[in-house]
Amino acid sequence: MFQSQPEWIILHGSDVTAVIECSKNEAPLWRYWGMRLPDGLTPGSILRESRPEPSFSPHFDQPLTIFPGGGVGWFGAPALLAHRAGADWSFQATRCEVEQNVGSALIKLHDDVAKIELVASLSIKGNVLTLSTSLTNRGDGVLDVAWLASGVLPLPADARTVRSYSGRHNSEFVAVTDSLTRSMWRRENRRGLTSHDCFPGAIVEADGATFGAQLGWSGNHAQQIEWIDDGRYQWQMGEAFAPGEVRLASNESISTAEMLATCGADANEVAQNFHAAVRARIDWPGGKMRPRPVHLNTWEGFYFDHDEAALVDLADAAAVVGIERFVLDDGWFAGRDDDRSSLGDWWADSRKYPNGLLPLASHVVGLGMEFGLWVEPEMVNPDSALYHSHPDWALSVDGRPLLASRNQLVLDMQRPDVQEYLFEKIAALLRDLPISYLKWDHNRDIIAAGNRPAYRAQVHGGYALMARLRAAFPDVEIEACAGGGGRIDAGVVQHSHRFWTSDNIDAVSRAAIQRGFLQFMPPEIMGAHIGASPAHASGRSQSMAFRGGVALPGHFGVELDVRKLNDADRAELEWWISTYKQHRDRLHHGQVWMGEGNDGLLWQAHGTPHDVLLLIYRLDPQTQRHAPSLKLPMLDATARYRLTDAPFGHDETDGAWLIQHGLALPPMKAETVQIIRLTKI
Ligand code: GLA
Repeated sequence: MFQSQPEWIILHGSDVTAVIECSKNEAPLWRYWGMRLPDGLTPGSILRESRPEPSFSPHFDQPLTIFPGGGVGWFGAPALLAHRAGADWSFQATRCEVEQNVGSALIKLHDDVAKIELVASLSIKGNVLTLSTSLTNRGDGVLDVAWLASGVLPLPADARTVRSYSGRHNSEFVAVTDSLTRSMWRRENRRGLTSHDCFPGAIVEADGATFGAQLGWSGNHAQQIEWIDDGRYQWQMGEAFAPGEVRLASNESISTAEMLATCGADANEVAQNFHAAVRARIDWPGGKMRPRPVHLNTWEGFYFDHDEAALVDLADAAAVVGIERFVLDDGWFAGRDDDRSSLGDWWADSRKYPNGLLPLASHVVGLGMEFGLWVEPEMVNPDSALYHSHPDWALSVDGRPLLASRNQLVLDMQRPDVQEYLFEKIAALLRDLPISYLKWDHNRDIIAAGNRPAYRAQVHGGYALMARLRAAFPDVEIEACAGGGGRIDAGVVQHSHRFWTSDNIDAVSRAAIQRGFLQFMPPEIMGAHIGASPAHASGRSQSMAFRGGVALPGHFGVELDVRKLNDADRAELEWWISTYKQHRDRLHHGQVWMGEGNDGLLWQAHGTPHDVLLLIYRLDPQTQRHAPSLKLPMLDATARYRLTDAPFGHDETDGAWLIQHGLALPPMKAETVQIIRLTKI
């Protein structure tokens, strides 16, 4: 299936292009990744033949390839670090075969010396280049692999800054901007799941283009950007392995997670490209996304305090205000009165639910709502029936203490008996109850990952369980949660349908968290709730209008005890729910633009350039005497717009005016939102 090498591999997306130069018996060279070049392009000089030899340098010049090796005259970071008991440590393709199709290429690199076979896969759909690598050990001994990049990309010499994301529980997507210099830039996560601390992706600003990449992987990961000798940079991204984690027997293979890369004129184009790619990865029940139902989640309103009669009342009150899906969170299963016990015992607590969950679930469904249930399959509390009968099912390292976190340990997802137990228990719930939704949590980092490190196997074990349950119950949707936003990535999105963005529902915090989220993920999978005031995580109080306006663009929900609202608040909540229902189609199928106006204004626009829902947020008090006008660059300069709910009675204005001069705004108080619709006349 692999052909002899074509001279060039040119992959075009609608607005992006990758150009790779092939030369005989070596890995192809990266020549270009960036904004679209014309069809029928003839690249300039052939790098392999034209680059002069610099002084005091090897006679064999080694430019950046699509998969640079070490110990062969490439002085940058290699994309593969591996050895066989200390030997066969250098890697260089001695033969190369390319299979090229429209928009994709499989590049097979054979190293007949180190006895390694590697296939680099590159394919462009829309404007996103997906890269992954698979490696086969063709030698006799075990091949120890310490690093295997999912992909390697060139970045131009004028790349200036990289924005990555840091954070913690309750504070996800904290944007950090670093300058790109001659020092290696590197971010690494070793928490065993995607992590709150280090989202697996970044945005690079260059002159005239913005680049983005993210890894579709819910485990340890690393990325690095390195200045190379020709003034460009190389960007590598991949899974991070623990020592000894990947040891391939003869003829054994490993395939990496996928790296998604794109570029655009600005960060908003990068976000739109990612949204399209992530949308294409989601496997919706029935093959198509239904309008995202309004959630009621019981967590912050009830915590572990489940009272069946109160929850029935809550369901009644929820149905009245327009809730469409009722999610019973933590606290429902055997003995679970706090976070100290019972994870693993996935059957209903007979004290709280004497007749099981069926009466409550049927009541919810009878009210016309869907019923969803919280589970945390990969976890076990030492105080649980499961742990008492199977203490050996928890991951541990001999001789090391079992470090609990939130009083819980992690089950060994490599074990078939663990997989079988969890499948049986969750399948029984899905079979016996009218459940159409699982909120799937993972409330701790992984530390002791087994005597042979099994971080990677844990991720695959979690994915496999999700996939098996979805195959058996294809109508069930899954929400990926890990103490809020600890498992948000383009890998788990292939098994799930919503992310719980953060345990922090404070609307001021959320404005920033959601902005980071939307850089990589589309709004319809961004769990966004109206929580109580004061917010439980921060103690700050915010109006219902502000909480509603911040939650509006996401997959909207409510996380408070609706029964306890006064009449005015209940009426306002109902208004937000019906406003969400009115706009969700526009919000969840369109493009997203985000930006900052003068004097601390934040804005988001959703839809198309001809029909935009504009959300303007003021977080802090205005510092200027007069409010600045807000430029709206996403509009069509040739169109005239009708404005609905605009200040100062504007009802019609030219797009060109709004782009160049901006929309005049009245003063806004801190923690308020304005929502304006602009439609082309
Ligand atoms: C995590 C989730 C919360 C809630 C609790 C339950 O913190 O993020 O939404 O489900 O677990 O224990």
